[in-house]
Amino acid sequence: MTKRPLILRTIPALRRALAGRRKARQTVALVPTMGALHEGHLALVRAARRRARCVVVSIFVNPTQFAPNEDFATYPRRFAADIAALAAAKVDIVWAPSVEVMYPQGFATRLVPEGVALAGLEDRFRPHFFGGVATVVAKLFMQVNPDIAVFGEKDYQQLRVVTQMAKDLDLPLRIVGVATVREKDGLALSSRNAYLSAEERAAAPLLHRVLQESARRIRRGEDIAQVIAAGAAAIGAGGFALDYLEARHARTLAPIVSVQDGPIRLLVAARIGRTRLIDNVAV
Ligand code: PAJ
Repeated sequence: MTKRPLILRTIPALRRALAGRRKARQTVALVPTMGALHEGHLALVRAARRRARCVVVSIFVNPTQFAPNEDFATYPRRFAADIAALAAAKVDIVWAPSVEVMYPQGFATRLVPEGVALAGLEDRFRPHFFGGVATVVAKLFMQVNPDIAVFGEKDYQQLRVVTQMAKDLDLPLRIVGVATVREKDGLALSSRNAYLSAEERAAAPLLHRVLQESARRIRRGEDIAQVIAAGAAAIGAGGFALDYLEARHARTLAPIVSVQDGPIRLLVAARIGRTRLIDNVAV
């Protein structure tokens, strides 16, 4: 039988468990998640497992990164199944604080990330989002004090924001990015894919196809603005409402007009029915 991870719900219990690990000179890796775990999350766990003796996975659906009109209340919560998957992946500690533990009465301090957090991508459509993410991830970093923290490239702007935040706050940890895990048809795995109807699910791989095709055309030397315009039209014709399709500098996320200004990342966000999907690829 696989050993169940230690499930901790209070900060003193977490600190005690980690103090023991540190005394034994174990390296600690943290994988922050909101649960409803899928193979994408498990790829991060495996990357953490390869790099550290002690793997901590946090499961916390963070209310401060959801706007009032978003899906905080209905976000999928599957704790028992998550624990079973994390046991099979040989995770040592699951850090699962309640909202009251993370944000006690009187909580009054927030981070306001700038730079890559104001690139005009996700922030344009979810202005509350990166403040909530930076605040909770900084708290997770201070609670766990890991040597390594692992994030997915799936949420590319988020990966850039937390990397910048850790650097700006002089946090002594290394951020590791992991490539996006996809379904066979190219759709990036996401907890929110569960919201898709059969018909929407059939249409969804279009986003990745357009990204791939656009990247290929840009590499071939076609004009970036024309490639993006054609991609946006294809996504609209496929039944999506497009939020953005953009070519950005892979590190600064600044707009890019020519391959000479690269490395380039193509990023997309689009809505189908009531579900919002995001994806990105390297050029
Ligand atoms: P969540 O959406 O649960 O994602 C947790 C981590 O899994 C993130 O780093 C995300 O990029 C990664 N991930 C999601 N889908 C992936 C896929 N298909 N392939 C590879 N990695 C994938 O992102 C969050 O939670 C939250 O914002 C959080 C960072 C936990 C802060 O609350």
